[in-house]
Amino acid sequence: MRSLPRRRLGADGPEVTTIGFGGMPLSIAGRPPASVAETVIHAALDAGVTLIDTADVYCLDQNDIGHNERLIGQALRRWSGPSDEIVVATKGGLARPEGAWTRNGRPEHLRQACDASLRALQRDHIDLYQLHAPDPEVPFEESVGALSDLAQAGKVRWVGLSNVSVAEIARGQAVTPILTVQNRLNPFFREALTEGVVDACTAEGIGFLAYSPVGGGRLNKKLPEHPVISQIAEQCDATPHAVVTAWVLAQGPTVIAIPGARTREHARDAASSASLTLTDNQRQRIDDAVFSRD
Ligand SMILES: NC(=O)c1ccc[n+]([C@@H]2O[C@H](COP(=O)([O-])OP(=O)(O)OC[C@H]3O[C@@H](n4cnc5c(N)ncnc54)[C@H](OP(=O)(O)O)[C@@H]3O)[C@@H](O)[C@H]2O)c1
Repeated sequence: MRSLPRRRLGADGPEVTTIGFGGMPLSIAGRPPASVAETVIHAALDAGVTLIDTADVYCLDQNDIGHNERLIGQALRRWSGPSDEIVVATKGGLARPEGAWTRNGRPEHLRQACDASLRALQRDHIDLYQLHAPDPEVPFEESVGALSDLAQAGKVRWVGLSNVSVAEIARGQAVTPILTVQNRLNPFFREALTEGVVDACTAEGIGFLAYSPVGGGRLNKKLPEHPVISQIAEQCDATPHAVVTAWVLAQGPTVIAIPGARTREHARDAASSASLTLTDNQRQRIDDAVFSRD
């Protein structure tokens, strides 16, 4: 297992590698067979990654809930490395009726979802349990309060939020200590920067888990043709994806990127970006470039 650069997760969390592994593409539409998925997870772990992000809803539909957590639990048990040193972050608060993505932040649902995640992961506690998204039908404090209760009960070590605003971070912090915030951040989507969420995390010492760091399943395919990214990739002798991940990591001292991958090659390349540092000029050129989402 290689040693990659690390950052502390939040003020009092564990140190983890600046690149985590996002499990979603291994379990949604277009997923590889489970046997292949396990080799991808092992490739990330062998490359030195010490944080895995998953969710109960990374699956095809409601009948398949827990697919990604089962994969990760099994891959960790069958990995030859020190699996007890790997931080596993999962989430509750969504549902997948007939494959749709819907919200359910009711405390009763979160309690049941947490128990189901513990069974799927086959662990006696969850390292980091994140509210997947606020539910407009449920007072936010009630959802966060349910996660706080799960932490009090010892089922959850740390509480995180996802898809939240600066105001919601403050409301969450008023209920329970928030270790991490997981929002989207990539050059195509910069709202976490423009709306102040990354800055708020820096100020509060909250870990910022950047999801879809290379643009997500569709937009990442545009990176190799991007004039600025391809030029910097050539200068750095790195892939366009590694360059973009390095740009994401440079956006704040508590940022950790969690790229997903369906191949071992991509998982290894993602890990390699942890060691890539862009110059100020390269960063500025990416800051200034246009990234079309069409
Ligand atoms: N909290 C939330 O609401 C939320 C939402 C979305 C995602 N997430 C989390 O964030 C993670 C990452 O997001 P994401 O999967 O949407 O997007 P992403 O990481 O930006 O993009 C993933 C895709 O990029 C491709 N890729 C990655 N590295 C590559 C490389 N070096 N070369 C070529 N292609 C590469 C992969 O292609 P291949 O599949 O071909 O390997 C993969 O499917 C998810 O897995 C999940 O854990 C959270």
